Amino acid sequence: MKNIAIFASGSGSNFQAIVDAVEKKEIQANIRLLVCDKQEAYVIERAKQHGIPSFVFTASDYVSKHEFEQAILKELQANEIELIILAGYMRLIGETLLKSYSQRIVNIHPSLLPQFPGKDAIGQALTAGVQQTGVTVHYVDEGMDTGPIIAQQEISIAANETKESLQEKIHALEHVLYPKTIKTII
Ligand code: GAR
Repeated sequence: MKNIAIFASGSGSNFQAIVDAVEKKEIQANIRLLVCDKQEAYVIERAKQHGIPSFVFTASDYVSKHEFEQAILKELQANEIELIILAGYMRLIGETLLKSYSQRIVNIHPSLLPQFPGKDAIGQALTAGVQQTGVTVHYVDEGMDTGPIIAQQEISIAANETKESLQEKIHALEHVLYPKTIKTII
């Protein structure tokens, strides 16, 4: 069984979908660690409810990205983590983690990459007025949402779509696509 760590910064609905799939044995893995960069993130509560240990840090407590990634790396190594899953982790992964986990970091992004990388991909799609958007799962490299694509799925944007309704559709899609893709990778 692979030991995995999930990195998240927010509510953690994707974290929850992955935990559920592991608990149902749809994914053969041990979720050994949550890494979170926001003390108030709801994902921490979700981890507690499932007995998953958390490493929660505040980036500004460290002098550099290298320093906090060293602290993360120590936790990953102590837990013998083999695969990192980013689930709404709103930071660019730096050289320290990329070097140790080359080809072993996966991310989900709420657009059809290479369209709309970076923050607020859903808002970007609405502003651009496109009729299709979607979700991408990809390996992480040094760029912003640029690594090799593993899976993509499209959805249509309705004429009367709001940010809330589109976000809901995207989340529903992510909660199916991400566990399914992680299962394949593992
Ligand atoms: C997800 O929609 C994910 O695709 C997005 O953050 C959301 C996290 O939601 N990630 C990015 O935008 C990364 N660039 P969640 O906390 O409910 O899982």
